[in-house]
Amino acid sequence: MQHYSEILSEVLISEEQLQARIAQLAQQLDADYATHPDLLLVCILRGGVMFLTDLMRKMTVPHQIDFMSIGSYGSGARSSTGNVRVILDLQTDIRGRHVVLVEDIVDSGHTLARVLELLNSRQPASLKVCCLLDKESRRQTPVPIDYVGFPIEDKFVFGYGLDLDEYWRNLPFIGVVG
Ligand code: PRP
Repeated sequence: MQHYSEILSEVLISEEQLQARIAQLAQQLDADYATHPDLLLVCILRGGVMFLTDLMRKMTVPHQIDFMSIGSYGSGARSSTGNVRVILDLQTDIRGRHVVLVEDIVDSGHTLARVLELLNSRQPASLKVCCLLDKESRRQTPVPIDYVGFPIEDKFVFGYGLDLDEYWRNLPFIGVVG
């Protein structure tokens, strides 16, 4: 395992920039869900964990959290294939609930498309998407994103939940692999 400093070419989004934008997103969610105290935030493991925990700490509207883990068949791919499978499902019954999916990054869109299809079939009252990073130029499947932290270019990014061979998710900033 290489130290990240040997691989980092630039800090794309600093800790300060991340926290400032996440505070804005939290404010927006607070306003949009002010009248829906049954809000459920659904985090897609593992990359979304840092974003979820910072976002929810900045939110004041009452909400619950739950987690899903999604995998794609075919390893080594830079983004997911169309064959997305559920590894860990929700414990919460979302029928009639207001749900916001919290993701770290949307790339091809395959993961999100599959999760949205699955969760919509359970008939939530509403289902929205909040993603920190949107790499729109890589999209293979159109997916609706309601709250975007930062649109980004097609660069290999890591840190703040996103891994480099499963390491360095703990970094407080988003870096670019050089
Ligand atoms: C990443 C990310 C999204 C997905 C986006 O997860 O967290 O869930 O890929 O890619 P897509 O738009 O091409 O489907 P990853 O599979 O790397 O797992 P991780 O979150 O555990 O790192």
